[in-house]
Parts: sequence; C-alpha cells; structure tokens
Amino acid sequence: MTGKIYLVGAGPGDPELLTLKAARLIAAAEVAVFDRLVADAVLDLLPPACLRIDVGKETGRHCVPQDEINAILVNLGLAGHRVVRLKGGDPFIFGRGGEEAEVLAAAGVAFEIVPGITAAAGCAAAAGIPLTHRGVAQGLRLLTGHRQDDGELDFDWHRLADPTCTLVVYMGVASAERLAGGLRGAGLSGETPVAIIERGTTPDQRTLFSSLADLAADMVRWQPKPPSLLIIGAVVNHALTPHMDHVGREAAQ
Ligand SMILES: C[S@@+](CC[C@H](N)C(=O)[O-])C[C@H]1O[C@@H](n2cnc3c(N)ncnc32)[C@H](O)[C@@H]1O
Repeated sequence: MTGKIYLVGAGPGDPELLTLKAARLIAAAEVAVFDRLVADAVLDLLPPACLRIDVGKETGRHCVPQDEINAILVNLGLAGHRVVRLKGGDPFIFGRGGEEAEVLAAAGVAFEIVPGITAAAGCAAAAGIPLTHRGVAQGLRLLTGHRQDDGELDFDWHRLADPTCTLVVYMGVASAERLAGGLRGAGLSGETPVAIIERGTTPDQRTLFSSLADLAADMVRWQPKPPSLLIIGAVVNHALTPHMDHVGREAAQ
C-alpha cells in the first residue's frame, strides 16, 4: 500500500481559521508530524489514537534538523502511512514546504499541499489592518528578517523603500533595528507606521504601534515574544480595531 503525505497549513493559531480540508484531514489523521508554531488548539483536533511526532522548531534553529524531518516523512510515506504534516500558517510561505515537497517527489512518495492562512493575512485581519488599501498601498511584499547564515540582512533597500507597498516581515524581531535603519537610509520616512503583532489570532494576541523612527526603542521596551510579525507601511494608520494595545497601555478589552 502506498502512503501519502499531506503538507497542511495549520494557519496562524485560531483553529477556526483552518480550511475545511485541513480540518477534515486533521480530524482523521493516523500520524501527525508538526512544528512548534502549530497551535495547541489545532493539535487538540487530532484524534486520540493519532501518532504525534513533534519536530518543533525554534527561532533560527531546528529542534529536529530538516534532513531528519525529511527522512521521517519519506520513511512514513514509503511504509504506507497517510501522514498529516502540519505547518504553521501556509506550508509554502517561509515554511520549508517546498523543500519537503521536493524530497518527497524525489523519493517517489505521494504528497498533496493543503494551503493555510499565512501569518500576514491572519495577523493583519486580527489587528484590523488592511494589507492593501486603495490610494494607500498598491502592493504587498512578504519578507523574512532571518538569514540562514545568521549574517546581517542585506536587502536591496532602495527597492524595498517604496511608500506605496506594504512590507510584512516574518521572523523580523531580532533584525527590527537593521530593517528600520535600512529602510530609512533608503528614503522611507521615520514616521512610516509599523505594527508588531505578537501571537496573532490567538487569545494572547498583543499589538504594538510604532514607527520606523521609534521601532528599535519600542522593541526593547515592549520585548515581543515569538511568534511576532511586523507590518510596515501607511496601511497601519488604517487599523480598524479600536481596542488594541499600544506601547505601555493595556488593551481596553
Ligand atoms: C518560520 S515562519 C513560518 C510562517 C508560516 N509558514 C506562515 O505562513 O505564516 C515563522 C514566523 O511567522 C510569523 N508568525 C507565524 N504565526 C504567527 C502568529 N500567530 N502571530 C505573529 N506572527 C506569526 C512570525 O514572524 C514567525 O517568526
């Protein structure tokens, strides 16, 4: 019997943001292999008899090296198992889904990609920030603030410093100061608003509003916990939820 690996996007945290397909596969899973970012509220939907393999990742390093994760998936597939490979957000957005799919394809293991709501979409919605907005932002770029070699970020800052394009930075907390400096150095105003969303879509969500000029100091003061996401651009001024946290202030509800 041939197995199959489902690379499933588990969304940003709120289990109600799972697709119907993801929820169906999770509820019937025989084996689940999951990352650290997958919310407990999603793991709670796995059946009691499901074999759970935690390959949880931490910022900048992997608890289980990627090669081992690949081998686990290939071996399970070759052994005939149907596996739900759960990944936070969407498997193909900073999720190494492409790498795992390539390995499975090379090994002749059947697989299917089930998309999920990526953190940019989930966090923006939960914070009431439109990622594009007519007359304000005509484009959106998803960036990672983490470099594989742990070196300094080396974006083409002049291409990024476009005031009509929203920037969403995944894994950007540690490099926030460098990001702000690079963007300001390339001409973006220090008043450009920034939102930092911590644990977006979960009951523990916090949102900080800052600006490129204040970002480094605000991050030190606020100490965002993982996972956190940065949204940079004029759309942040269009945040619609009135009850959110601001620096040094508790949310009203
Ligand atoms: C390795 S990337 C995985 C992204 C994931 N594949 C996706 O599509 O959302 C991890 C980063 O995503 C962001 N992230 C994921 N879930 C988040 C959440 N609920 N709230 C804030 N940021 C989140 C953070 O920047 C975190 O460091």
